[in-house]
Amino acid sequence: MDKFHDLIVNRRSIRRYTTTPIPAEDVSLILQAGLMAPTSKNSRSWQFIAVDDPEMLRRLSGCKPVYATSIAECRLAIVVCADSTQSDAWIEDASVAATFIQLQAQALGLGSCWVQVRGRFTADNQPSEEYVQETLQIPEVVTPVCIITLGYPDEQRHPYDTEKLKWDHVHVEKY
Ligand SMILES: Cc1cc2nc3c(=O)[nH]c(=O)nc-3n(C[C@H](O)[C@H](O)[C@H](O)COP(=O)(O)O)c2cc1C
Repeated sequence: MDKFHDLIVNRRSIRRYTTTPIPAEDVSLILQAGLMAPTSKNSRSWQFIAVDDPEMLRRLSGCKPVYATSIAECRLAIVVCADSTQSDAWIEDASVAATFIQLQAQALGLGSCWVQVRGRFTADNQPSEEYVQETLQIPEVVTPVCIITLGYPDEQRHPYDTEKLKWDHVHVEKY
């Protein structure tokens, strides 16, 4: 099977990680993937914050009350942000970069999960973006879109079954 197809079939969100650290050269490759992601008008509006300090990861996991546990669990979190003054397509710029990061991680044998930040709220009803900005001293114009959690998988997920894809969501020539 084509290697890239194989990577896509096997990528699943991983939320539990082993304690094995991620080699520094792999962290560099993952960040390079983000920095080579395409952006609207080549604005490169993204900003990335790599966090591996366990106490900081624990604090970051408070960015929302549910679906954020992988942040405290992971070996490395990359907070993917974008500067809305740099591009009107800042959300798309950040989203594409986050996906590149996840795919590069998969190619390195790592598991990853996207944790949504933009548009979410903490348990105290503070916007999650603001909470992450305060926690990591991010300037106001730089909005955290998501946090990609990374580490070696400590859970098994089934690969996608290509026989069960939602082909009814694909339209040819017209809807
Ligand atoms: C925009 C977006 C937001 C997501 N937010 C979260 C999240 O906050 N927490 C989480 O655990 N997973 C989150 N996910 C992961 C999805 O739950 C997951 O991709 C989906 O269930 C499909 O599973 P798979 O990634 O294993 O194919 C998000 C994914 C995307 C693309």
